[in-house]
Amino acid sequence: MAEDTLTIRDNRTGDEVEITISDGTIRATDLRQLGLMSYDPAFLNTASTRSGITYIDGDAGILRYRGYPIEQLAEHASFLETAWLLFEGELPTRDELAAWEEEVRHHTYVHTNVTQFLDGFRHDAHPMGMLLGAVAALSTFYPDAKEIGDVESRRLQRVRLIAKFPTIAAWVFRHSRGLPYVFPRNDLDYIGNFVNMTFEIGGRHEPNPVLQRALEILLVLHADHEQNASTNAVRGVGSTQVDPFSAVSAGIAALYGPLHGGANEAVLRMLDEIGTVDRVPEFIESVKAGRGRLMGFGHRVYKSYDPRAKLIKRVADDVFAQTGLNPKLEIALELERIALEDDYFVSRKLYPNVDFYSGLIYQAMGYPTDYFTVLFALGRLPGWLAQWEEMLSDPEQKIARPRQIYTGSEEREFVPLAQR
Ligand code: ACO
Repeated sequence: MAEDTLTIRDNRTGDEVEITISDGTIRATDLRQLGLMSYDPAFLNTASTRSGITYIDGDAGILRYRGYPIEQLAEHASFLETAWLLFEGELPTRDELAAWEEEVRHHTYVHTNVTQFLDGFRHDAHPMGMLLGAVAALSTFYPDAKEIGDVESRRLQRVRLIAKFPTIAAWVFRHSRGLPYVFPRNDLDYIGNFVNMTFEIGGRHEPNPVLQRALEILLVLHADHEQNASTNAVRGVGSTQVDPFSAVSAGIAALYGPLHGGANEAVLRMLDEIGTVDRVPEFIESVKAGRGRLMGFGHRVYKSYDPRAKLIKRVADDVFAQTGLNPKLEIALELERIALEDDYFVSRKLYPNVDFYSGLIYQAMGYPTDYFTVLFALGRLPGWLAQWEEMLSDPEQKIARPRQIYTGSEEREFVPLAQR
């Protein structure tokens, strides 16, 4: 009997098959030899792809992009450098980085018709709804984006998305505030340009380098997270061979949900609801009694402290040193202290995730609560695009189309309306 195999015996029939184990995994399609399917709602134990982009060890709290620890990237890399790393698999040389920054700068302008659909949104439209619509609409401006079999066309669309996304994200912010749109400035770097397009008033904005670097670190920390819900959406929708603007807008839609990217927004609402530190124990009790969740806690993959949450706590110190302390931080720290000592959370391995502190930082930077997920989307964009590229280049991938176990009625005769 070969060593790296699994023998499965069907006790209904006595049939036995030997299937290959490779990379600690068996192929669900091998079960067909016994006429079986595998059932795995929400993909709890199913790998949908091979991937060389991001490594996570959820028990040890390890996150690496292309082999580089997240801690080192957060300390040393710029966001565009990280995006290059995710796309190309290697850190850029100095010349490659300069050329990449220049190329992105060259594509930051968006067709001004986009401002017309943004104007069509209500004044109180949720920024994620606007972002999702505007990014999807970009596909209509670039019909060549349908050429997904052409490597050079795919690269160009990646550049366009990375370059134009901050412009659209900033315009969404301006729309929410009833402010005129600010156009990209070529003398600023990627983060500086984005911050300027969001906050400039009357031609003036004093950049704060500490806050800009803090924002950049947050974007680096969010840049990829292997097969998370939004990336799975990008890959799943992209597997139909649709253009990348449409596939990325599917990712934005998935990120919008409160269990995914909407969690940092939910954390702030939760902190507002708690109101004061002395009400923290009462709130923890209500969570334990099953009345709502402790938002910003728990993760499908991390069963120890999310390494990004550790780094974010440090960023929070730098930001609050600039902006002054936020009373909600005190509530968050107390929630974390109590939860980390409470058996309910400890036994379920529930630790703070990336979203627990990020919302507080974004708020201190001047972003409104319903804008936080837009910042997450801006950060995650390189990951979505790197994973989309990997999916299209993978000969094993096909249109993603799960199976089901049918639980509905047996065949029955149609009953005409008059007889029902
Ligand atoms: N507060 C209280 N209890 C929780 C929480 C929480 N935040 N998260 C999980 N639990 C409990 C569940 O009730 C369940 O308890 P039980 O076994 O007694 O039924 C147990 O822990 C396991 O929870 P699941 O829902 O099975 O875990 P799952 O892996 O499906 O969920 C998720 C992960 C969605 C992140 C969940 O922990 C959650 O809802 N957290 C709050 C929302 C959040 O912060 N999301 C951000 C995720 S990170 C990101 O997207 C960037």
